[in-house]
Amino acid sequence: MKLPFAEPYRIKMVETIKKSTKEDRIKWITEAKFNLFKLKSEQVFIDLLTDSGTGAMSDKQWSEIMLGDESYAGASSYYKMKDAIQDITGFEHFLPTHQGRAAENVLFSVLIKQGDIVPGNSHFDTTKGHIEYRKAHAVDCTIDEAFETTNPHPFKGNIDLNKLEKVLSENPKEKIPAVIVTVTCNTSGGQPVSLENIKAVKKMADSYGIPVLFDSARFAENAYFIKLREKAYADKSIREIVSEMFAHADMMTMSSKKDAIVNMGGFIGFRDEELFRRCSVFNIVFEGYITYGGMSGRDMNALAQGLYEGTEFDYLESRIKQVEYLGQKLNENGIPIQLPIGGHAIFIDALQFLPHVPREQFVAQTLGIELYVESGIRGVEIGTLLADRDPITRENRYPKLELLRLAIPRRVYTQNHIDYTAAALIQLFQKREAYKTGYSIKYEAPIMRHFTVELEKI
Ligand code: F0G
Repeated sequence: MKLPFAEPYRIKMVETIKKSTKEDRIKWITEAKFNLFKLKSEQVFIDLLTDSGTGAMSDKQWSEIMLGDESYAGASSYYKMKDAIQDITGFEHFLPTHQGRAAENVLFSVLIKQGDIVPGNSHFDTTKGHIEYRKAHAVDCTIDEAFETTNPHPFKGNIDLNKLEKVLSENPKEKIPAVIVTVTCNTSGGQPVSLENIKAVKKMADSYGIPVLFDSARFAENAYFIKLREKAYADKSIREIVSEMFAHADMMTMSSKKDAIVNMGGFIGFRDEELFRRCSVFNIVFEGYITYGGMSGRDMNALAQGLYEGTEFDYLESRIKQVEYLGQKLNENGIPIQLPIGGHAIFIDALQFLPHVPREQFVAQTLGIELYVESGIRGVEIGTLLADRDPITRENRYPKLELLRLAIPRRVYTQNHIDYTAAALIQLFQKREAYKTGYSIKYEAPIMRHFTVELEKI
């Protein structure tokens, strides 16, 4: 007998969320200068802005909170986190940081210098920000299929080995501090990287003497897709696949706010003790002493427990199938989304959804605003606002895709919330011909403008 999937947990505590009227929402989004980040969370009914730090912790994680050891140095919580990291990822040395971008900051302070070149698969925006802040260049080596939304390639996070080889062969080794592999690749749609590709990248990087860094925020979701889509791994457990993935990395940065299902936290994993020592100095300056680095003991405990829960097959199946359920509903109704459906979010192709809105009027942002106004659902733009300006020419960078991301928090929303979301989008899609104009910029910051940008309706 084949039964449908169901969540391997039940709900013990609920949090009230508020419905609002369309009039309320028009007022609020206008006050927020049409920037979805500037809305108050209580003005949002279903919040799909991010799956980062928005997950629901388990009863076991909350119990761990009570067991936290808040000693400044050598806390038992630090050792609990160390054991969990070593057990699951195999990394012997680690530094705790307050979140993923802090891990990037500490590691890149040692690794990256002006003029360096850092190839990878569609670097996440904070990763790119930390590279460009150091006047180095992030080179995108993702396979071309990743940018064709209807191409069903099973591993759209993969690195194009020809593109990578070109970067590695045309630049001196001293200028390439690392190859970054983001698992899953957030920017290309929560798309996985195959183990075959991971192995090939590692082999190539090794042949040039360049280390491989995993941006690991959604490593467990990546392992789930490997199990489902890569034949050789069908019978392996998620933990076996995870340890095989990490066996091909020299270092890792982790935003634990995703696959470790905590509200705050991150870390860097190292094999090289010398690099760990050099980074420790920056960790102390930027984050905190090496045995807590920006985290409280209770949060390190919850993180350690979360690493185990986040790598359980039944949890991952229900999590990813919930995302898939939403994607399928949209797909069946003709809404253009990145396919195959990714691990943590649905990425809507805004250029196809709103074909009459001009590109320079921020199409995905326009779609995000209209969805919020109609339904109280908040997504996030992954398009021209996020792509920012070229650091040298200061021209807008137009990415290949203009996407609205609906990220699903872990263990938070029910199937009814997902049905509501699908219904709102389907209704908006039916009215799409009516949308002809978008927004222009009134204010923008010199870097990472999307967080604080202020817009005006055209
Ligand atoms: N790497 C990836 C792949 C990410 O998705 C993120 C964050 C980071 C690094 C940075 O981690 O937020 O803990 O500092 N992504 C969030 C998102 C913000 O909404 O996708 P952080």
